[in-house]
Amino acid sequence: MKLNVNGSERDIDAPDDMPLLWVLRDLMGLTGTKFGCGIAQCGACTVHVDGSPLRACITPASAVAGKKITTIEGLSADGSHPVQKAWAELDVVQCGYCQSGQIMSAVALLAVVPTPTDSDIDQALSGNLCRCGTYQRIRAAVHRAAELGKA
Ligand code: FES
Repeated sequence: MKLNVNGSERDIDAPDDMPLLWVLRDLMGLTGTKFGCGIAQCGACTVHVDGSPLRACITPASAVAGKKITTIEGLSADGSHPVQKAWAELDVVQCGYCQSGQIMSAVALLAVVPTPTDSDIDQALSGNLCRCGTYQRIRAAVHRAAELGKA
């Protein structure tokens, strides 16, 4: 199957029902997208498909062939995306495991709501769990990313 990931088209030899998460991690070496629960409950595996957040753990790769897939590695080559910069500036990360999923959900939110309220943020990121409890810093970083995105 042909997959367009982070702007490059790749021919991937995988079973049709292989979850996108494993294609990304095991066949393409894009390990920024994480496995948490495998049942669409934690958000660690969040990627974008045609700009919208999607749980890669329950999505067969064949279902997104021909669509534009973006992983955390595709946001920027050097961490310069406004959301990545805001995350670093506010030192959001504790253990870090969930954070690429958090960032992908935040980027998707800001694309449609450039100046989100606390409630917009809480709603958009409600499916992204953080066992370290970094939610306050995540919320602050989304506000900061909104400012940086306009600068
Ligand atoms: S690993 Fe996909 S939502 Fe938890």
